[in-house]
Amino acid sequence: MSTVKIAPSLLAADFGNLQRDVEMVNESKADWHHLDIMDGVFVPNISYGMPVIKTIATHATKPLDVHLMIVDPDRYIQTFADLGANILSVHYEACPHLHRTLQAIKLAGMKTGVALNPHTPVSVLEDTLNNIDLVCIMSVNPGFGGQSFIENTFKKVEQLKEMIAAQGTSTLIEIDGGVNDQNAGPLVQAGADVLVAGSFVFRSTNPKATIASLAALGA
Ligand code: DX5
Ligand code: ZN
Repeated sequence: MSTVKIAPSLLAADFGNLQRDVEMVNESKADWHHLDIMDGVFVPNISYGMPVIKTIATHATKPLDVHLMIVDPDRYIQTFADLGANILSVHYEACPHLHRTLQAIKLAGMKTGVALNPHTPVSVLEDTLNNIDLVCIMSVNPGFGGQSFIENTFKKVEQLKEMIAAQGTSTLIEIDGGVNDQNAGPLVQAGADVLVAGSFVFRSTNPKATIASLAALGA
């Protein structure tokens, strides 16, 4: 039996009513706020930057799960710590010295996360898993909300679950992209600990109820 964590992605929020949407997440059954930071270089899209993150942090009452889709994330580790990030995820594909980056994140007082693009096998994390608090398996190509879930994700969740068990770490498995009420249950069955959901939550008529329904699928 597992209790899944739900992390609504604010990328799909109404930025004209950002405080309202952050407060909706505060009042919901969500566990974390998921913040997607895109630089237009690592991914072909730019999302939002420091002033917006500051606003979100001001109103958020739950941990900030920050997903950096940027090149050279080392430059901003302290900045994100100062902004109030609790979990800082960098992309494996953007970090030639991943172990050093993870040490810097930890030193700055945050939990360490590593995100993997759909084409990157989980096995690349074998030698640094004991330094990773969260692995974010991308179930879409990063850069945009509202894309379709890639089914191969299930295989990766199972493989990562086995790696975690073999090494005895307490690393959490997060799934990001295209999560909905069809795949949430099977993902939790496969071993997912955290589900990120953007469009499915914010495009629904009752986002709070949608968050509760996703949480119930993993209860
Ligand atoms: C994609 C982002 C995701 C995205 C999820 O690059 O990392 O967090 O916002 O959005 P949906 O749930 O709409 O796929
Ligand atoms: Zn994300």
